[in-house]
Order: sequence, then structure tokens, then C-alpha cells
Amino acid sequence: MSLRLGDTAPNFTAKTSQGELTFYDYLGDSWGVLFSHPGDYTPVCTTELGRTAALKDEFTKRNVKVLALSVDSVESHDGWIKDINETQGVEVNFPIIADADRKISEAYDMIHPNASVNATVRSLFIIAPDKTVKLIITYPASTGRNFQEILRVIDSLQLTANYSVATPVDWKDGEDVVVVPAIKTEDIPAKFPKGYTAVKPYLRITPQPNK
Ligand code: BEZ
Repeated sequence: MSLRLGDTAPNFTAKTSQGELTFYDYLGDSWGVLFSHPGDYTPVCTTELGRTAALKDEFTKRNVKVLALSVDSVESHDGWIKDINETQGVEVNFPIIADADRKISEAYDMIHPNASVNATVRSLFIIAPDKTVKLIITYPASTGRNFQEILRVIDSLQLTANYSVATPVDWKDGEDVVVVPAIKTEDIPAKFPKGYTAVKPYLRITPQPNK
């Protein structure tokens, strides 16, 4: 059965471009982004992994560790990393899993046989420090993901983990948020001293509480 939000992310030991690692040890107390790509030496994946490397400071600032995966070998990853570094102007600074036996791909349901029987699709999981799955997205091979959107979701997940708020459409870090329905309107002033606007009884807007 496929993973769902709130499930515990399966732990695993894997061969990677940075040696063998155990997922939970690699993550420690950090948030995690685990993402699969269809294959090494493919153009869209080259740009995605380059962008991930370029965003290292953004991930580090958010206490996030990233980990990529394809079913290709470590030797293949090593050669391809040189190409990524050369063509994308980066140093790939995170491990790429070599999931040759597809155990991890299967545990995370990254192979969608009607899309491809022998390659992972573009799956991406955001995992919280308690190892629960907080976000799952799946893109086809032909569409590269938007890593600014991944950072935006991480900002939302980290904010909403700590405050009784949710983030509205197209929200970006620093913008107003909505108070969750579980908070009674009469309790808002004590919880959100920056103030609020009740557009409707169910739509209460407040400045981002941690800014
Ligand atoms: C790519 O990563 O560039 C790619 C992979 C499979 C199909 C199409 C594009």
C-alpha cells in the first residue's frame, strides 16, 4: 500500500554516492526531503539536482536534509554528478541513493508501472523530525519540479507545526495567515496579539505570528 500523509516514513539502509547510510541516522533531528528521479544522465533530472545543490543554504537554514534516489548504480551516479557540477555550476552536496534492487522505491511507491515499469517517477516526500510524512507530490518524468514551491511548503509546514494557523492560497513566508477553525474568535486576541481581521466567522486573518 502506498504511503499517506501522517504515516511513518519507512527507514532503510542504502548505498549512495556518499557511501552507505541509514535514513533515520542521516536525518537525525532534521526535516527531510526524499525525492526520486527517473534516471541518471537525463536532462530534466540534471537541472533538478543542480537546483537542489544550489539551494543548499536555503535547505540548511530550514534545518532540512535532502536525499535523492534513482534505480541507477553508485558508479553511474558518480559519473553523472560530474556532469551536473559542470553543467549546472554547482557541487552536488547531498547523497543520491542507488536503489538498484528497488526496495526503497517500492516502500515509497515511487514506481508507477503505467508510467514506467523500470524507472521511478518524480516523487517527493517531506518528512518531519518525528519521521512522519508531511507532503507527497508526484510529477511525471517530463515535468521538472519547482523547488521554490518545495521551500514554500517547508515554510508552511514548519510554521503550522508551531502555531494554530494555516497558510492561504499562494502564501509566502512573511505574509498574513489564517487562524485555524479550532480556535474560537473570542480566543484569538490572547493567542495572536498582533491582531486579526474576521472577514467571515470562519475566515480570520492575522499577521504571521513568528515574524
Ligand atoms: C529527464 O529527466 O530529463 C527525463 C526523463 C525521462 C523522460 C523525459 C525526461
